[in-house]
Amino acid sequence: MAEKTRVGVLISGRGSNLKALIDAQRDDCPYAIALVASNVEDAPGLDFARAAGIATFAKSHKGMKREEFDAIIDTELRAHSVEAVALAGYMRLLSPGFVEGWAGRMINIHPSLLPLYKGLDTHERAIEARDSKHGCSVHLVTAELDDGPILAQAEVPILPGDTPDTLAARVLVEEHRLYPLALAELVRTL
Ligand code: GRF
Repeated sequence: MAEKTRVGVLISGRGSNLKALIDAQRDDCPYAIALVASNVEDAPGLDFARAAGIATFAKSHKGMKREEFDAIIDTELRAHSVEAVALAGYMRLLSPGFVEGWAGRMINIHPSLLPLYKGLDTHERAIEARDSKHGCSVHLVTAELDDGPILAQAEVPILPGDTPDTLAARVLVEEHRLYPLALAELVRTL
């Protein structure tokens, strides 16, 4: 078995996608999560990392310049010999220098069928637009928010009576299935 690619995961919140990435780490999984870092000191998702014995780093970005904070995260990732980065509900815009440093090696999961609905409130916007389908996308991270080449997508139907919450729950099931597959696929190409 080839050595596993060391991955860093960045989170800001509940971390359900992080949990899916952790749960997928079996013998045949080509990645190993080496560090989970957060810009929110008490992000609930950090507990999933701790329970799995994965190193964590948490520091608030408040009062710091974007570049300054990103440099700290970058130093932590490199100190843990991270080779690829997965954003999993990381609610911070990244500085161009950080993005450049991880070009082709950093992915994000976004709850829409990109290029539709970049940014926030995607479920609400898809319902308001009377779309018949919605879903999630995994893409390489570039300097533009929720832009960058799309690596994988999964669709769900929008059903009569859906609220943003019921639709989000349906999409989340697909996120948890898709993200580990897309991350494994990415690291196989590195
Ligand atoms: C997910 O919907 C993800 O697509 C978006 O932020 C949310 C994070 O949820 N980028 P979680 O923290 O992984 O539970």
